[in-house]
Amino acid sequence: MEIIIFKDRDRAGEYAAALIAAITEECAAAGRSAVWGVATGSSPESTYQHLQKRVAEGLDVSAVKAFALDEYVGLDPAHPESYRSVIEAEVVKKVGLAPQNVHVLDGMASDIPSECANYEQKIKAACGVDVQILGIGANGHIGFNEPGSSLASRTRIKTLAPKTVADNARFFDGDTSRVPVHCLTQGIGTIMEARKIVLVADGPNKAAAVASMAEGPISTMCPGSVLQLHPNVTVVLDEAAASELKLKDYYNFAQENIPDFQRP
Ligand code: GLP
Repeated sequence: MEIIIFKDRDRAGEYAAALIAAITEECAAAGRSAVWGVATGSSPESTYQHLQKRVAEGLDVSAVKAFALDEYVGLDPAHPESYRSVIEAEVVKKVGLAPQNVHVLDGMASDIPSECANYEQKIKAACGVDVQILGIGANGHIGFNEPGSSLASRTRIKTLAPKTVADNARFFDGDTSRVPVHCLTQGIGTIMEARKIVLVADGPNKAAAVASMAEGPISTMCPGSVLQLHPNVTVVLDEAAASELKLKDYYNFAQENIPDFQRP
């Protein structure tokens, strides 16, 4: 796991966007379109802003495909806080991906198991995800895989943890009763199949989750800790989110001494 700490959220987002742009260009050079895994939430906002700049500077995303991580169950897709709406605003309108190339789970599906199985099929048909953008919940969740999730799980329905309901109430005028209790989410096993994972986190309320994810035991108590088993993860942090890392000095030292061929 590579951990890179920046002064602030904007620099972190710039770096994450550079990684994603590089993978997108590598795929194009190999004659195929990249597949992005896209996250919602505040964490990747700066990454999307910088991807928007990259596109303005010439990065071609016209054939990039994207799969969202998760969606609320029972929330009208037209609701501004549905993840479909958020992905349309951030990834389609802002970054410029073609709407027909961007897939989001249908949280209103009448047959939820089929919806989840079909989504897994669509990812497979696209030959898997080249680069997965991830945030992390304050309780260590990735996607909506709450503590207690199987580390081998596939796309399925989950019940949100009360902590997540409380955290996400800020998107619903602070009213926890308006936050849906159920969601559909790519499983941890699904996420782990991405070829590259870029996790972005900022702010002091993520510091404990980031430390457990990177330096704690691999455990369902912190679903993000499973990323320790993935061979190609870059964690991009601001100073506040990195503040509880025990090996912070080492991560900085490693970046100062990065071999030339590994520089982005
Ligand atoms: C949300 C999403 C996750 C996101 C996480 C952190 O509930 N389901 O995909 O990474 O929680 O959100 P934020 O970046 O807004 O702190």
